[in-house]
Amino acid sequence: MSEPRPPLVVVIGSVNIDHVVVSDAFPAPGETILGRSTQVTLGGKGANQAVASSAVGVRTAMIARVGTDPQAALARAGLLDRNVEVQGVVPVPDAETGTAWITVAAGDNTIIVIPGANHEWPSQGDPLEGAGTEADVVLAQLEVPLDVVERAAAACTGRFLLNAAPAVKVPDQLISRCEVLIVNEHEQAVVSGQPAQGRATDPSAVRKAHAALRARGAKAVITTLGGAGAIITDIDGITTALPAIPAEVRDTTGAGDAFAGVLAARLAAGDSLLEAARLGTAAGSLAVRTAGAQQYRADLDTLRATLATVTPAEKG
Ligand code: RIB
Repeated sequence: MSEPRPPLVVVIGSVNIDHVVVSDAFPAPGETILGRSTQVTLGGKGANQAVASSAVGVRTAMIARVGTDPQAALARAGLLDRNVEVQGVVPVPDAETGTAWITVAAGDNTIIVIPGANHEWPSQGDPLEGAGTEADVVLAQLEVPLDVVERAAAACTGRFLLNAAPAVKVPDQLISRCEVLIVNEHEQAVVSGQPAQGRATDPSAVRKAHAALRARGAKAVITTLGGAGAIITDIDGITTALPAIPAEVRDTTGAGDAFAGVLAARLAAGDSLLEAARLGTAAGSLAVRTAGAQQYRADLDTLRATLATVTPAEKG
């Protein structure tokens, strides 16, 4: 008898080089301020999620487009170093690897992405090149063109997860392919088309948005709320609020990616949605304690130990 195949997550998405400025505050439009430090690190929502998935011990392959510049080699090496398979990370002639220009201040960040090669895909065909039939979970975000994500979803025979970031209006057909749709409060308002009445973190506003998204075909919806945790509506329509795990926040960049990557990996490994999401909140909590989007370390034991430090007060 042949050995069972280990679970596989395929992440299709962006690879960026992050240029980070740390300052005490965000400049207002037209204002000049002095910052504290700068850093160039590896990022991109896709790459960050692939690294998070691989870190919990699940085989993870990345499908992406990079340039032919020296930054592409750095990005590939960074993924390989974190045990992410990079055969699908394809250099595009004459293109530049994507960059993100990030300001970290006051426990938050702002990000402008220049997509570069992340927007250079063949205009037709399966962007997963057949990997969608092998993967237990395909995880996508929206830093690559929407039509690439739509074609990937169509080519995926396992579970398709979408982290709708950065937010755009997502067609119903793509929403209906989502086993899990993951948004933050801002993305929830854009994707659901329902600007929250009152605070988006208000559980009743989130429930309403989840109901609207499930009515459009998403099987389960998760809204991540930073320091307020996450709200999950599962395939049976049962909503659970997961508290965040307290952390001293240094840099929130990539915390949502840590959550999504771990969620995908643990679903592929057979966890329930709630179990996988709990581990995702632990990954998010670890990610914010460290500067950079990928520099924290969160293997499965570390995540379980982090979860064990709190007695979560989950609410239905
Ligand atoms: O989610 C954080 C990521 O967004 C950064 O790493 C940056 O590259 C942008 O893609």
